[in-house]
Amino acid sequence: MFKRKRIDQLHINSTFVVPDKKEALSYVLLDKRFLHVGDIINFNLYFKRELTQMSLFLQSDTVIDQAQKQRLQQVEQIFASNSEYHKYEIFVESRLQNLLHDTSLTMDEKTEIIYTSSTKLTHSLYDNPDALENSQRSEKIVTPILQSIIYNDYTVASYMKIIEHDYYTHTHSLNVSIYTLCLGAELGLKEEELISLGRAGLLHDLGKSKIKYEVINKNGVLSQEEFQEMKKHSSFGYDAALNIGIDDKDILDGIRHHHEKLDGKGYPDGLKAHEISLFPRIIGICDIFDALTTKRSYKESMHSFNALQIMKLEMNTHLDMNILDVFIKMLHE
Ligand SMILES: [Fe+2]
Ligand SMILES: [Fe+2]
Repeated sequence: MFKRKRIDQLHINSTFVVPDKKEALSYVLLDKRFLHVGDIINFNLYFKRELTQMSLFLQSDTVIDQAQKQRLQQVEQIFASNSEYHKYEIFVESRLQNLLHDTSLTMDEKTEIIYTSSTKLTHSLYDNPDALENSQRSEKIVTPILQSIIYNDYTVASYMKIIEHDYYTHTHSLNVSIYTLCLGAELGLKEEELISLGRAGLLHDLGKSKIKYEVINKNGVLSQEEFQEMKKHSSFGYDAALNIGIDDKDILDGIRHHHEKLDGKGYPDGLKAHEISLFPRIIGICDIFDALTTKRSYKESMHSFNALQIMKLEMNTHLDMNILDVFIKMLHE
């Protein structure tokens, strides 16, 4: 249980002086919109007094009251220390579950908050692929996204407006997860199956965290040798998922086989059409669509119409065309 303290019992403005600029970098900007009256925060909040000076704004184990909420609105930015950032992430995970019921926000604002915070949570997940909490975290990220999609009549439209088109492994993975949830819903999957599918989409490139940084972030097209190295990510991801305790066969299948092709020319196992199950078929389509519509250092992002045209005309021996047709229809509704 938290030890509750009232705000007025605290020395709210007791100054916490950061000794030098290096130290100042160890604070992380928070999203104030998650802090509500009645919330108990179990990490210190700071604000920037000057460029290199942080002051304590609110002490850990405090219940936020009305006056404090007003003060929060007057402060431009609010921070947590790097060492307590994981506590903020856990706090955000729990708040995300209730965000849809927040009557003070519009649906577009809710979608934007869910996307922005899920981007950061997915970043942490990919930064530390072997962390045991990732299995649970993937579910905590996917659930509010699915709820928001259901709330929006299963349409991808609100996410299409805000999806990030600059490539990072974690934003790509989050985008793929969102597309798989919408496509899976369109294909008639049940809510429970959708959660598994969304988790598989989120974790599909987890193995990239095990590939050399220079290969992942190469400023150009990969050499043959580098491509061979890159191809290991799907089996590395499968191993990582097993290590963090994921035992759902569909999720594991989605991660391991998202680069398999119907003609048997994919990797890592060279599966043929009838051997490729539903999850990798769905993820494979969402993965390629996001890759094509995303900007890389060596290529511009492609318009979704052109991406779908290439997928339809040039990848018909790789992808499940029936599922692709549903995807195309979904994006144009
Ligand atoms: Fe991949
Ligand atoms: Fe991918």
